[in-house]
Amino acid sequence: TLTIDPTAKGASIDDTMYGVFFEDINRAADGGLYAELVQNRSFEYSTADNAAYTPFTGWAPTGGALDVVNDDGRLNERNRNYLRVGLPAGLINAGYNSGINVEKGKRYDFSVWARTDQAAGTPLEVGLTDPAGKELGQELKLRVRGDGWTRYTGVLTARESSTTGRLLVTGGGTGTLRLDEVSLFPKDTFKGRPNGLRKDLAEKIAALEPGFVRFPGGCLVNTGSHYGYDESSNWERKRSYQWKDTIGPVEQRATNANFWGYNQSYGLGYYEYFQFSEDIGAMPLPVVPALVTGCGQNRATDDPALLQRHIQDTLDLIEFANGPVDSTWGRKRAAMGHPRPFNLTHLGVGNEENLADAFFERFTQFRAAIEAKHPDITIISNSGPDDTGANFDRLWQLNREAGVDMVDEHYYNSPNWFLENNNRYDSYDRNGPEVFLGEYASQDNRFYNALSEAAFMTGLERNADVVKLASYAPLLSNEDYVQWRPDMIWFNNHASWGSASYEVQKLFMTNVGDHVVPSTASGTPWSPSPITGAIALSSWATSVAYDDVKVTSADGRELFADDFSGDAGNWTGNGYGRWGVQDGAYVQSDATATNPIVTAGDPSWSDFTFSVKATKLSGS
Ligand code: AHR
Repeated sequence: TLTIDPTAKGASIDDTMYGVFFEDINRAADGGLYAELVQNRSFEYSTADNAAYTPFTGWAPTGGALDVVNDDGRLNERNRNYLRVGLPAGLINAGYNSGINVEKGKRYDFSVWARTDQAAGTPLEVGLTDPAGKELGQELKLRVRGDGWTRYTGVLTARESSTTGRLLVTGGGTGTLRLDEVSLFPKDTFKGRPNGLRKDLAEKIAALEPGFVRFPGGCLVNTGSHYGYDESSNWERKRSYQWKDTIGPVEQRATNANFWGYNQSYGLGYYEYFQFSEDIGAMPLPVVPALVTGCGQNRATDDPALLQRHIQDTLDLIEFANGPVDSTWGRKRAAMGHPRPFNLTHLGVGNEENLADAFFERFTQFRAAIEAKHPDITIISNSGPDDTGANFDRLWQLNREAGVDMVDEHYYNSPNWFLENNNRYDSYDRNGPEVFLGEYASQDNRFYNALSEAAFMTGLERNADVVKLASYAPLLSNEDYVQWRPDMIWFNNHASWGSASYEVQKLFMTNVGDHVVPSTASGTPWSPSPITGAIALSSWATSVAYDDVKVTSADGRELFADDFSGDAGNWTGNGYGRWGVQDGAYVQSDATATNPIVTAGDPSWSDFTFSVKATKLSGS
C-alpha cells in the first residue's frame, strides 16, 4: 500500500539535478561526438603511445613517396608532424569503424594546410571513393601555391551513400608538397557549428534535456603524468588533461595520448564543451586535475611549481568562461566567437583522487585560490572511486570538517546493490557537504540494470535536498573501440542507439519535478531472496568454448543470459570478472575456471535451470 499526501512538500528538486557526464573514453570524441571524419588528420599518432599506431594510422598510400616528418618545417610548435609528399603521389584516409560515412546529396567541408616548393604551384585533387576506388562524388580540384603554410578549403558533395567511404588526396606534378591537418566535416553538424558535433549523437544527448554537462573526464583528466613525460613541456603528449591545450585554432592545439590508450586530437575542446552545454541549455561543469592521480595509479605531485601552475590554469579557466572580453582569457573566448560569458558556476577539482590526505592538502590550495577570486563558484571535491571504505570515509571526513560545498561520489555496482541501496542518502548529514553523484551505473546494459537504476534514482530524488546533481557514466561508446561497458549511448560511424539506461535517464531528466511528494509504502511488492552460493565454472574445461549461457528461475524468469554476440573484448578488463570472449562469438572459461556467473546476492530463487551450448575445441 502506498500512502501519498499530495498537500505535503518534501525536498525541492533543482532543474539541474540530472545531467550527463562526457568523457573521451570508447572513442567518444574523435570518431564519435566530434564530427571530424578523418582519422589521424595531423599525422600525430605514434607507436610510443600505442603499439598498434604509426604516424600513418588511418592512412594508406596510393603511390609516390610519402614520409611523415617532424622537423623545423612543421605547421607550428604543437602540431609536430606533417606529411612530406614526393610528387606525383596520393593517399587515402579510411576514417573510423568501417570507413567514412557519406550520405547521398550531403555536402562535406574539406580543408588542408599545405605548401609547395614549385614556383608555378601544385595541383591537389580530393575525392570521395568506396574501398575499391569507385567515386562517390565529384572531385575537388585545388591548386597549392607558395612555400608557406596556407589553408585550402573546398566542398565535396556525395552522389552516393556509403558507410565505407574513403577520402582520396592526390598531388600532381613534380617536386615536394607538404600537407598537414587534413580534415573533412559534414556541413550538417549539430546546430551547423563549424568544427562541430555529430548531429545524431548530439541530438540524442540534447533529447535528454540534461541539467548539466560534466566534462572532460574521468580518469582522462587526472592521469597522464605517470607516463613520465615532462608536464611543463609546451607540446609534449601524454600529460594530464590541460584545458589550455584544447582551445584556439584546431591546427594549433596539442594532441595527446590519453589514459584510455588512444590518441585524442583535442578538436573537441573546452570551447566546444562550453558551447555544446549552452546549446542544449545545460550548466557546464568542468573537472580539473588536482595532481593526485587516482585511477589505479595513486601518485601525488611533489612539485610545488607544477601545482601552482595548475592552480593558475584553473583561475584562468574561470576567466576564460566568465571573464570580460578585455581580460586575457575572456579575450580568447571572444576571439573564438563567444564574447558573452559561458556562466560557469560549478567546478570539480579532482577525479577519484583517493590518496585522501595528499589530495585534500592539494585541493585546499586550489580551493583557497578559487574562493579568493571567485567566491560564488561552487567547488566540488571528490570521495575516490568507491561507495564505501577507508579512503572514502577519510575523504568525506576531511571534506566535512573543512565545510566543502559539494563532494563527487562514484560507484559502479551490481543491479542488486542499486536495489538494496535506495536509502543510501536518507541518513546523509543535512548540514554537511552536498552530494554530486558524478558517476554511477549498474554493471551491464540489460533491462534489469536500467530498472535497478530507475529504482535507485527514486532514492536520489527523495533526497534532493542533499543529492544536488547526478550523472550516469559513461555517456558514449563507439561499438568498435570499447574500453568500458556498460554505456548510455552506443554508436558506430553511421548509426547510434540508446541503451535501456538511456531511456531511464531520459524519463527522469525530461520529467524533473519541483519538489518531492512524500510517500510511504507498506508490504513488499517484490522481494527476491538472494542465493547463498554461486554457480561457478569450477567443473568446466578450458578446452571447451561456451555459448548461449542461460539461468532461468523455476517459474520461468530469466536470471542471467548471454549469447555473447555483441562482445568484442574481454570483460575481465573492466573488473566484471566473468568471461573471456573469443572472436566475439563464444566464450571460454578462464584459466582458473572458477569465475561465478551468478554471484551470491544476485536475485535468484532456490530452483533454477542452467543451460549452455558447448563446443569441444581440443583435448579431452
Ligand atoms: O566512467 C569511466 C571511468 O570510471 C572514469 O574515467 C573514472 O572516473 C571511473 O573510474
